[in-house]
Amino acid sequence: MNKKQTLEKLQKKMLACKKCQLRNSCHQVVPGAGSAVAKIMFIGEGPGAKEDELGKPFVGASGKFLDEMLAIIKLKRGDIYIANIVKCRPPSNRDPLPEEKEICWNWLEQQIKIIRPKLIVTLGRHSMESFLPGQKISECHGKALRREIPNLGKQVFFTLYHPAAALYNGSMREILIKDFKKIPKVLELVEKK
Ligand code: URA
Repeated sequence: MNKKQTLEKLQKKMLACKKCQLRNSCHQVVPGAGSAVAKIMFIGEGPGAKEDELGKPFVGASGKFLDEMLAIIKLKRGDIYIANIVKCRPPSNRDPLPEEKEICWNWLEQQIKIIRPKLIVTLGRHSMESFLPGQKISECHGKALRREIPNLGKQVFFTLYHPAAALYNGSMREILIKDFKKIPKVLELVEKK
């Protein structure tokens, strides 16, 4: 099986997951979307209302902004892979609970193992903390960090503020766009190593 087929098989298993309580309140599982051979994987926090309705990640207001930033660096959805820490929408968009994140972590681990991206871009604090515990987003946004992650090995991460946090905040928007524009250079450096 090639990466695309392996990922599709995994996504089917995710759709049937009932391992935590989130599945009782959400409409559908949102496994992730994009290229199985992506060099860059974007990881958000969890589906919101629109994602829960459509079964795809980042299809609401934050997703529109994400698309705008991708266009600035000449990337399309089909060039990257987008997933979330939790695959089911937490009720009323509350933060996912530690046990929910822990249960869902195995799915994300498998997605990363199949895609093996050169670069993981974390979107928001929850995504960052899942990979880089102890870091402060105010200090590490816009920076690349290489870390050894249990079961995954060495991986380069690039941390961004969540697009939702920048939607109605002009200065945050500027910071996020400035950070986002660094992605091509970071990828180039990672690929040279
Ligand atoms: N916010 C996220 O973190 N993920 C989505 O898929 C949508 C909004």
